[in-house]
Amino acid sequence: MRILAIETSCDETGVAVVDDGRHIISNIVASQLAHQDTGGIVPEVAAREHLRALDGITQESLNEAGVELRAVDAVGATVGPGLVGCLLVGANYGRGLALAAGLPFIGVNHLEGHVYANWLYEGDAATPEPEIPAIVLIVSGAHSDLVLMEGHRRFRPLGRTIDDAAGEAFDKVARLLGLGFPGGPAIERVARDGDPAAFPLPRAALSGYDFSFSGLKTAVLRLVRALEAKGEVPVADVAASFQKAITEILAEKTARAAAEHAVETVLLGGGVAANLALRAEIQKRIGHPLRVPAPRLCTDNGAMIGAAAFFVLRDRGTEVPVTVRSDMKLA
Ligand code: KG4
Ligand code: ZN
Repeated sequence: MRILAIETSCDETGVAVVDDGRHIISNIVASQLAHQDTGGIVPEVAAREHLRALDGITQESLNEAGVELRAVDAVGATVGPGLVGCLLVGANYGRGLALAAGLPFIGVNHLEGHVYANWLYEGDAATPEPEIPAIVLIVSGAHSDLVLMEGHRRFRPLGRTIDDAAGEAFDKVARLLGLGFPGGPAIERVARDGDPAAFPLPRAALSGYDFSFSGLKTAVLRLVRALEAKGEVPVADVAASFQKAITEILAEKTARAAAEHAVETVLLGGGVAANLALRAEIQKRIGHPLRVPAPRLCTDNGAMIGAAAFFVLRDRGTEVPVTVRSDMKLA
């Protein structure tokens, strides 16, 4: 089963060809540079950029895979959650391709894509499939969700952020420190030269599995203002202290969820999962195997949508709607 898959829910235009939900044949991602000047994503600009990029990237992805459109078995595209204008561009483009080539169209939930990124591999050596049930932590620019994956496409939400998403907190702190956008990779880079114990920062003590990051964000803002008033801001130390706090918050709840449910593995997904400090904090707290997609498969890409689309096709019982929805949840 060969799927051409399209991802346009936010600011990455991704098109991939994926076999049997696991094997990446091609995976082209274009990050929109237009947002670097504004320091954040302007939805209308993002939608227009997707429209401009999609034709070329689709052709590039098919070329790299060495296949023609009529040689694929289905077309998949993200239908939610995400920015509605962006979703409409990719979903309508995918539907148009499917219609023109007489192929089935599969609407894919972006969050399922982040989960199924853990099933992907490149090259000839197939990695073993992650064992389920699993605890999954999805941490991206828009989401911080802790879920119990009971089986394929069967997700039970355990907790989520009650305010900012983890990636959003990374991005806001990076902007405060003058580190540019996206902030996560920049914070991780400068934090390597910093002392994570330099500044004590609060960890919100929420009961259950929900997260809150706004108190931490405000504490970093106050700290930076106080340091500025005194003179130079030690950027690496602030970044390292913030990264330590946020990764500990995420790791503690993830480890508790793994201990309190009978699961085989812990899986990560979403852009923040690319963060090595987060992985280390989780790994040292759990006895389970930890699976994390390769960094370029953690951030938005078409291949993860191709993986999720395969499992939608295989398991027609829980259909994903083909109309876009910006607030779609994991089922
Ligand atoms: O999954 P993603 O590409 O897009 C969404 O679905 O939102 O995630 C993007 C987010 C951004 O907030 C970015 O700063 C963050 O993931 N991110 C990271 C790292 N790489 C990307 N955060 C922390 N450490 C990283 N290495
Ligand atoms: Zn995402």
